[in-house]
Amino acid sequence: MLKIIFLLFCLLSLNAGANVLLAKADMAAGKALHEKNCIACHASSYGSDGSAIYTRENRKVNTSKGLIAQVRACNTNLGLKWFEDEELNVAAYLNQTYYKFDH
Ligand code: HEC
Repeated sequence: MLKIIFLLFCLLSLNAGANVLLAKADMAAGKALHEKNCIACHASSYGSDGSAIYTRENRKVNTSKGLIAQVRACNTNLGLKWFEDEELNVAAYLNQTYYKFDH
C-alpha cells in the first residue's frame, strides 16, 4: 500500500513539476517560434490556422508533462535544434492558448 502511495506521489509531483516549468516560460517567444515552425504543417492537414489539432476530441496530449514531451519530440523529428527553454516556451504557449492544463 505504501508503495502505491509513494508511486502516486511521484506521478503527481512530476506533473506539478511540469506545470511549474510552464508557468515560468516566455509565452510570447513560444508563440513566435510556433508560428514560424509549426503552424503551416498542422494547417495543411487540419485546415484554417491548424489549431484544430490541439482541440480535436481525440487529441493525443493529456497532461502538461505530455505536452512538453510532444513538443520535444517534434523539435527532434524536425531537426529544429531548439534549446530546452525554447521547447518549454512553445509548450507553455500551447498550454495557455489551447490545452489549459493545470496539472
Ligand atoms: C511536417 C508536419 C508537422 C510539423 C512541421 C509539425 N507538426 Fe505537430 N503534428 C503533426 C501531425 C501529423 C500531428 C498528429 C499526429 C497524430 O495524430 O498522431 C501532430 C501533432 C502535434 C501535437 C499533438 C496534438 C494532440 O493531439 O494533442 C502537438 C502538441 C504538436 N504536433 C506540436 C508541434 C510543434 C510544437 C511543432 C513545431 C515545432 C509541430 N508540431 C510541427 C505534423 C507536424
